[in-house]
Amino acid sequence: MTPFLQGNTCVFGLQWGDEGKGKIVDFLTENAEVVVRYCGGANAGHSVKIGNEKYSTHLLPVGVFRPGVMNLIGNGVVIDPEALFHEIDEMVGRGIAISPQNLRISYKAHLVMPYHKQEDAAREQSAEGGGIGTTRRGIGPTYADKMQRSTAIRVADLLHEDKLQQRIANVVTERNKVLTCLYDAPPVNWKEIFETYRDYGRRMAPFVDDVGHLVLDYFRQGKRIVFEGAHAALLDVDHGTYPYVTSSSCSALGLYTGSGAPPQTVQNFVGIMKAYSTRVGGGPFPTEQNNNIGQYIRERGNEYGTTTRRPRRCGWFDAVAARYSADLCGTTMITLTLLDVLSGLDRIQVCTGYRYQGQRLDYFRADMEVLAEVEPIYETLQGWNGNISGCRSFEELPKEAQQYVRTLEKLIGVPIKIVSVGPDRNATLIR
Ligand code: GDP
Ligand code: IMO
Ligand code: MG
Repeated sequence: MTPFLQGNTCVFGLQWGDEGKGKIVDFLTENAEVVVRYCGGANAGHSVKIGNEKYSTHLLPVGVFRPGVMNLIGNGVVIDPEALFHEIDEMVGRGIAISPQNLRISYKAHLVMPYHKQEDAAREQSAEGGGIGTTRRGIGPTYADKMQRSTAIRVADLLHEDKLQQRIANVVTERNKVLTCLYDAPPVNWKEIFETYRDYGRRMAPFVDDVGHLVLDYFRQGKRIVFEGAHAALLDVDHGTYPYVTSSSCSALGLYTGSGAPPQTVQNFVGIMKAYSTRVGGGPFPTEQNNNIGQYIRERGNEYGTTTRRPRRCGWFDAVAARYSADLCGTTMITLTLLDVLSGLDRIQVCTGYRYQGQRLDYFRADMEVLAEVEPIYETLQGWNGNISGCRSFEELPKEAQQYVRTLEKLIGVPIKIVSVGPDRNATLIR
């Protein structure tokens, strides 16, 4: 692994997603042997650029781009087999080898079913006030069924083909009542779903394994493991900006329940944050710049969703929110990404506190009613000009850019050890 990192590492987002986790997991996996996804589903979109090729992963861990690396999909992930096989076929078509040699899937992971996607879309469509702005990948309804238990279907169920038919028939019968009565949606056919999922199960069987057991085994053998977080701390179902969150434990804290790794497995907690803020979907966003600045960032940063192509909402860096996430996740070092996007701005603002009902708030409150009302307090920093994507050391950056990095580091209280100035593997500066 990159020399300054000894031991195992968890990579996670410190904002509202799309911080460049894909790029950094790929970077840190250079000398790792195992990559583990522990949360979320095909709602994630992680980009990796290798030479002139750009790849997007949704369910596959990013270690698939490194020959010899074992990739594990943990129990905390919800798997849409249609999306998974589509992704595998696409990767294989582009020359990326994927087989049980380098991919294992937890038998404990839950399955996204067609009616979950239908319910997700129907809920969003019928919600007053525009809904949550989900990716409509069926994520919420699948995790709801996981907690509900009696209506859930796991990867393990696919392996018990004799019982699968009855199980799907029962669950679909119940689900059809919800679809038709609550959402006025057409009922789904249990037999079709059974046959499709039976075939998925046959294809998935060689990949299915006991991922928790494998993680422990690799740990005991001293293999280097990178845990790949999806989404971000502010989208975490418990600690994020509820209800405008996703439905999994997607801060660093979710790695234990989502993979089965015991706490002592991980020594490095690498939080990823971009040099500004973005958010897709609904929810309060105190530093949002719904103006020329936001547009400038969106175009330069290509801030359009990797999964849904929705334009991302853009704004200034929010140090109050990032400090909250960094503290929550026990962050030991930060990677700052997309610094190059801010080039060309005369002045750059950073939110250092909030004003709420006449008082200064220095701590983030994950309470939508409070967040919707806070007024950011900004510190203004000097901008810089020129393309910095060719810089290969921190010292080569314009001094204003260096100062910007130092300011963020001080506001958050965690060292920024890596600075990313472009999507390429080598546009990565280690301090
Ligand atoms: P993730 O979900 O956190 O993996 O992030 P996404 O892949 O959804 O979005 C990040 C986007 O920024 C991708 O298109 C990356 O290729 C790109 N990217 C990553 N780091 C940098 C960087 O330092 N500069 C620029 N310009 N692009 C970057
Ligand atoms: P990566 O891993 C950005 C957001 C959605 C929506 C909310 C709930 O690429 O950083 P869901 O479909 O999960 O029920 O939607 O969460 N969201 C993300 N935003 N990046 C992501 O993942 C996201 N995953 C979910 O836009 O607001
Ligand atoms: Mg993304």
